[in-house]
Parts: sequence; structure tokens; C-alpha cells
Amino acid sequence: MNDVEIRNLKKKFRSFMAVDDVSFDIKHGDFFAILGPNGAGKSTLMKVMMTLSKNYSGEVRILGYDVKKDVNKIRGNIGIVAESTILYDKLTALENLLFFSGLYHTPRWKAIEKSEKLLKSVEMWEWRDKPVNKFSTGMKQRINIVRSLMSDPEILFLDEPTASLDLQSAETIRYILREANNAGTTIVLTTHLMDEAEEMADRIAIMNFGKLIAAGTLEEIAAKVKNDRKSLKIEFEEDEVEKYGRIFENKGIEMETLKNTLELFYSNDIELEKIIDLVSVSKMPVKSINTTTETLDKIFLKLTDHKRQGLK
Ligand SMILES: Nc1ncnc2c1ncn2[C@@H]1O[C@H](COP(=O)(O)OP(=O)(O)OP(=O)(O)O)[C@@H](O)[C@H]1O
Ligand SMILES: [Mg+2]
Repeated sequence: MNDVEIRNLKKKFRSFMAVDDVSFDIKHGDFFAILGPNGAGKSTLMKVMMTLSKNYSGEVRILGYDVKKDVNKIRGNIGIVAESTILYDKLTALENLLFFSGLYHTPRWKAIEKSEKLLKSVEMWEWRDKPVNKFSTGMKQRINIVRSLMSDPEILFLDEPTASLDLQSAETIRYILREANNAGTTIVLTTHLMDEAEEMADRIAIMNFGKLIAAGTLEEIAAKVKNDRKSLKIEFEEDEVEKYGRIFENKGIEMETLKNTLELFYSNDIELEKIIDLVSVSKMPVKSINTTTETLDKIFLKLTDHKRQGLK
């Protein structure tokens, strides 16, 4: 049994498809990152997995339980770090942790012991008796994540846990997530930072416009993307880029203009031949021509940017 099993998940807001036919699995013990640009549908997908949203079609199983039928069984075994922090502002850091442990019926001595260990690991032990409303965003988020770990969840779901944090706070959070994962907790987080996903996750799912465009280990994704998409850079005299660009555009070739260079994208030899034919038939005065090998994050940025521009 996988910790998470999602089949053909669709979630609409009126007629807008925010999550569009997404299927994937997450194995126990995985560190799984869902990567995508703003508006990709990451939070919408996350809310369904966190059992906070039921109005969807398709099948979603967490720890073997159906999200629509067995919410309570799931909730006792998962930790949730949603977009906004779940803390009581007027209570101190420690009071918050003990309060939430109480909800899970953890014995008080055990909760105190665990609070101390976790607060120390995020360098917040000295702050335990200060009310949360005195804390910075980064400090609140550290306490918020510690709160989610108090119940020793099987799976911890986090929606952009490091967004809007400074480098130190973000690093502390990554540290505690790694620790939790090493201790056996499955971690599922969203991020729009390629570096973060690359650094932390065993497996990555990439979303764009509600769809899952790739999933797997970084190596698997890199192999797929590299096979799927190559580009050719053609340099022209500056005043000719636009004119020749239109020829490619009219033939439906995806491209990007950078100063006096056109970058033309293709996925297979037939498309490449089409580009080369156009160059020769139109007698284009080419200054230089180059194929590109690009880093993974650049390719993703381009992939997602292209589709975005297409919608405008
Ligand atoms: N409650 C809602 N009602 C209507 N539309 C919504 C609602 N929630 C999200 N959307 C839309 O669904 C799409 C996906 O939103 P979502 O918040 O899941 O994206 P995201 O990947 O988490 O983006 P971000 O990186 O900005 O957090 C967006 O276009 C958003 O406007
Ligand atoms: Mg979001």
C-alpha cells in the first residue's frame, strides 16, 4: 500500500479546472515535492490530500483510507501545514504545542518531552514562554511545523513551508523536515523553487495549469524533458529577427526571441527538419546556428512560461 494514491483527480471552481485529471502515488518514507508556478493548482491538490476539500471527482486514498469516507481515520495520522499558520496568537509557543497535543490525547509528560526536543531542534527553546504574537513570520512558521510534528504523523503535508522566509529560517525548516523524514515520516510539500525540490526531495511531481506534466525522480524527469524538448538558436542581423520570427510563428513553431536570436523549440526530427526547411526555403540570412543543452530548471521555466504566454 502506498501512503498516497491519487487516481484521475479533478477539482473545478465553477467551470475552471484547477486540478485536471491528476494521478500519482507516494510511497511510505518518500520525501515528495510538488513543484509548479503560481496558480498551477498545488494548493488545491494539497487541500484535497489534507482532507480539507471534498468537492472533487476521482479517487484519493491516504494511508489506504478514502478521503471522502474516512476523514477521521486519516486526520489522526497526518500532520498539516497549510498556507496560513494554525496557532493561537495569545498562547506561548509551549502552550500552543501542549494544547494541540491535548487534541491528540498525548500524555502531558510525553508532550513536554517532545516539545523540548522539537523546539531545541528549530532553535526556539529559549522562546518557549513567549506569546506567539511576538514572533516573526519565520519563528511562527517554525512553531507551526513543530506543532504539526507533535502527534508523530505518518505523513506530513506542507503547503509552501518556506515561502516568504529568510534564508536562515528556510534552512532550519528544511533541516527539521529532513530529520522527520529520516525518522520515517513521509513528507509531501509544495514549492515553486526548483532548487528546493532538487535539494530535498526523492521524488518530484511538476504541475502546470492543473495538470501533472511530469513525475518521478529528478533523473527520470530530466531524461523525459530532455527527450521531449530541444531547441535551436538562430542568430540574425538585429533588424531581421522580427521578420523571420513571423515565418516560424505562422508555421506554429514555438519560439522565443532574445535580442537578435530566435530560439526555436522542437521535440523530434520531423519538427527539426521543418525548421531547417523554412530556413533554406526562405533563404534566411543566418549569422550563426546553435543547438542548446540547458539546465533542468531553465527548461521547466521555459515549459511553464510558454504555456502561460499562450493563454494570454
Ligand atoms: N476557492 C477558489 N475559487 C476559485 N478559484 C480558485 C480557488 N482556489 C484556487 N482557485 C484558482 O485555481 C487555480 C489554482 O490555484 P492554487 O492556489 O491551487 O495554485 P498554486 O499552485 O497553489 O499557486 P501559488 O503558487 O500561487 O500558491 C488558480 O487559478 C486559482 O485562482
Ligand atoms: Mg499555493
